Amino acid sequence: MNILITGGAGFIGSHITDALLKKGHSIKILDILKKPVHMKGFPEYLDKTKVEFIYGDVTDKRVMKYALNGVDIVFHLAAYQDYLPDYSSFSYINVFSTSLIYEIIEEEKFPVQKVIVASSQAVMGEGKYHNKSGKVIYPTLRTDQQLSSGNWDHIDNETGLPLILDLSDETVINPMNPYGMSKYQQEMLAINLGNRIGVPSVAMRFSIVQGSRQSFYNAYSGACRIFSLSYFLKKQPTVYEDGNAIRDYVNIHDVVEALVLVMESEKSNGQVYNVGGGKAYTVLEFAKVVAEVFEMEYKPKLPKEYRFGDTRHIFSDIKKLKSLGWNPSRTVYDSVKEYKQYLEEQTDINDILDYSEKHMKNLGVIRRAVL
Ligand SMILES: NC(=O)c1ccc[n+]([C@@H]2O[C@H](COP(=O)([O-])OP(=O)(O)OC[C@H]3O[C@@H](n4cnc5c(N)ncnc54)[C@H](O)[C@@H]3O)[C@@H](O)[C@H]2O)c1
Repeated sequence: MNILITGGAGFIGSHITDALLKKGHSIKILDILKKPVHMKGFPEYLDKTKVEFIYGDVTDKRVMKYALNGVDIVFHLAAYQDYLPDYSSFSYINVFSTSLIYEIIEEEKFPVQKVIVASSQAVMGEGKYHNKSGKVIYPTLRTDQQLSSGNWDHIDNETGLPLILDLSDETVINPMNPYGMSKYQQEMLAINLGNRIGVPSVAMRFSIVQGSRQSFYNAYSGACRIFSLSYFLKKQPTVYEDGNAIRDYVNIHDVVEALVLVMESEKSNGQVYNVGGGKAYTVLEFAKVVAEVFEMEYKPKLPKEYRFGDTRHIFSDIKKLKSLGWNPSRTVYDSVKEYKQYLEEQTDINDILDYSEKHMKNLGVIRRAVL
């Protein structure tokens, strides 16, 4: 089949490219090699001779029309996804580009058989909780006033006690930041426009994806990068808040299997799926895994800093995708080991860690609690 992968030069896109090439498909990639994801231009892990590479922007209708011509399947992965306060870019790039795909397919009568869009756990925002009496609660963003006084947990207004975290399934929709809001709009556009014009579509709500090729320079690209770089540079990592924030991490190769599965399955048409690791870790537990893999002493720094806007806890329920036959089999150890190997293959990395931290401090995203 002829498959278009927008954002195919990136982390997830390049891995799905490899998997689909192995299965004998023809791959077109549309990517603008955006900085800071691609600081060194065309990534060395992508083989230009095996794919058709289109350098262009997913918001450019002319380019998108060219890319979509002759395509059976679309993976729409290109996105604006930094942790920056330029709110309009999230809608402009993520929402506009998704609408454009359906607009062009309809206008040009392109016989696209399926569109798969990358959504995010961020759609579920702060996730689902209950209080002591069993009442379900979907908390909103913690205020700067709360965080600056070092109170990290979501508190039940009725009892004054911390709320109890539940798994969040696909029905949880409560995005708190412009990125999550744009991802929810992408989901709606895919499912509803797909249905309207008869193009089966699927939205994949990824948790934190980990593995090789994750950009070193994204201002916000997760604990694996930050902790691995720290231990690699023989520094102790900085952990925000109290380190007890809960996350689930999913390995890139499990994600690729999920993407191939929904591409091939008719049952997935019109569905949204959580794609998570199925196991909850606190940030400190995760830091410990990274320390073990790098054979470093585990002594993270906890300077009581916080990133305003961060989710306290989130844990995706993956029952729905499992019922389709998917089972994430790799562990966080597998992901970190693969990232370590990738890191060891790089040159000129000394400045990377400081780059993103300084960048976020300058933007006022990282703040310090006064206790
Ligand atoms: N990695 C994760 O943990 C994670 C979690 C949740 C959701 N997602 C979603 O998965 C998708 C892929 O993420 P990733 O981690 O591979 O990101 P990435 O940054 O590694 O790759 C994204 C690619 O898109 C390209 N791109 C960005 N803007 C573009 C534009 N306007 N036109 C053309 N190309 C553009 C970039 O150059 C890059 O190659 C994104 O939609 C992201 O929101 C990722």
